[in-house]
Amino acid sequence: MKIAVLPGDGIGTEIVAEAVKVLNTLGLKFEMETALVGGAAYDAYGHPLPEATLKLAMDSDAVLFGAVGDWKYDKLDRPLRPEQAILGLRKNMGLFANFRPAICYEQLVGASSLKPELISGLDILIIRELTGDIYFGQPRGRRIATDGHFPGAEEAFDTMRYSKPEIERIAHVAFQAARKRKAAGTEGRVTSVDKANVLETFQFWKDVVTEVGKEYPDIALDHMYVDNAAMQLVKEPKRFDVVVTGNMFGDILSDEASMLTGSIGMLPSASLNTKNQGLYEPSHGSAPDIAGKGVANPLATILSAAMMLRFSLNQPEAAQRIEAAVQKVLAQGLRTGDIWSEGTTKVGTAQMGDAVVKALG
Ligand code: IPM
Ligand code: MG
Repeated sequence: MKIAVLPGDGIGTEIVAEAVKVLNTLGLKFEMETALVGGAAYDAYGHPLPEATLKLAMDSDAVLFGAVGDWKYDKLDRPLRPEQAILGLRKNMGLFANFRPAICYEQLVGASSLKPELISGLDILIIRELTGDIYFGQPRGRRIATDGHFPGAEEAFDTMRYSKPEIERIAHVAFQAARKRKAAGTEGRVTSVDKANVLETFQFWKDVVTEVGKEYPDIALDHMYVDNAAMQLVKEPKRFDVVVTGNMFGDILSDEASMLTGSIGMLPSASLNTKNQGLYEPSHGSAPDIAGKGVANPLATILSAAMMLRFSLNQPEAAQRIEAAVQKVLAQGLRTGDIWSEGTTKVGTAQMGDAVVKALG
């Protein structure tokens, strides 16, 4: 079980260290190798995704990823920005299927900006296509300046594009996930989000998803325009089960969905390719404002490590142990600042990691 550990920038190093600590307590044998990525790699090697880092990731069974980005890189030419590291990893490793669960932890129901009854028991899964769409369309704008901006340009454009096989394979992932969840007691519904009323790409998307859906008669399929989906997510989030959508809409809706739970610091994510090789990262970003202070919430990264054990390393029991340990520390009332509320105990990043280690038993 070879794991590439890529902490990245900002709070990335702090939270990944806690996840590594937890992994090392499981009594399993991992081969872990750490490398620089994002702004940290740019500072050291002049590129956010150096050859050696990419090779390490490609040669591993799984990548444990922290976060990338910092405002100080905003003026860099686009291909050198930290964000390009994660995009490059996704593209080169073929990580087309992005799982972003939005689960409301009962103890944290009060942390949401929505009324408790709207989100109590919320358990939805956003499946975002990750290697197509406008993110990877050609060309990606005119590059006439070196700072990533286009002074004096008259236009800029990006192209939205999906091929049939790209849509088919993500649709299959969504229907299969819905089926698995149904076996565990959910409704068995896929909501495909598009903008078919305006965009040809998404009329095509809708048609292809509908075709694939015929192979899953046990799973209900509905279609929703993205603007309506954004509204329904705050109006009645529990009406969703599995949501499948393209790269750009998925980026936006997954941020929205994660915040419904009030605790983006709790949400893991997985990005998989056809070989079940995966990249696992928290749903939140690098939070440069709190970096280095030891206050970031490591639980999303620790839960991402659990997803890694389940999806890429075939260690479901170990995954469950971690998830149970996280539940336990929450039940003990331990909270990092982002999820703290009156009557609970505020702890720092390392203390939280230590508590999870202890709760593993
Ligand atoms: C995400 C992030 C990335 C994206 C950025 C950092 C490129 O927002 O993983 O959601 O847009 O996909
Ligand atoms: Mg995003």
